[in-house]
Amino acid sequence: MRQTRTVIFGLLFAATVLCLMISTSEASEDKRELVKLPPMMQEHMLANMRDHLAALDEILGELSEGNINKSVAIAEKRLGMSSLSHHGADAFAAYMPEPMQAIGTQLHHAASQFVLVAQDAELNPGKTSQHAVYKALKGITENCNACHQAYRIR
Ligand code: HEC
Repeated sequence: MRQTRTVIFGLLFAATVLCLMISTSEASEDKRELVKLPPMMQEHMLANMRDHLAALDEILGELSEGNINKSVAIAEKRLGMSSLSHHGADAFAAYMPEPMQAIGTQLHHAASQFVLVAQDAELNPGKTSQHAVYKALKGITENCNACHQAYRIR
């Protein structure tokens, strides 16, 4: 009886290990949807992306120096709604699946939202507004992340 139980537990253990191995190998598999862009647009998009990251870095830099006005100007110009025509969003939209476009639009809204929240925090300093600024920044980065998790262009 005891032996049978040991064998059963042994089998269960082996099965669990096997399942874990399978699920980790699946996790490393690239499941992102491939969005095909003409080569020139690929270049353009990646250049925009590098500028997005540079802008985020500069926003954080200005915030850390207490330069709210400079940080919101960068956010609005390079990530916000007014950046849209700037980086040819219409041309890209034609190639992007709708949910991807929606994430892009949300990113630009989130950046414009950050502008309002950061300006408000400047007028009403305190812990609550500080947290609101962090939250608004996360509102930006969660869209970067959502799109990167779901799509690739190469
Ligand atoms: C609507 C989708 C989308 C959003 C939003 C988005 N990205 Fe990207 N990004 C992509 C895709 C697609 C790639 C290319 C991934 C691939 O094919 O490897 C990319 C690539 C990049 C790269 C690599 C550039 C290179 O030269 O290789 C950086 C850096 C980057 N994104 C930063 C950001 C940052 C920072 C944000 C947010 C502020 C952001 N992205 C928002 C879709 C998006």
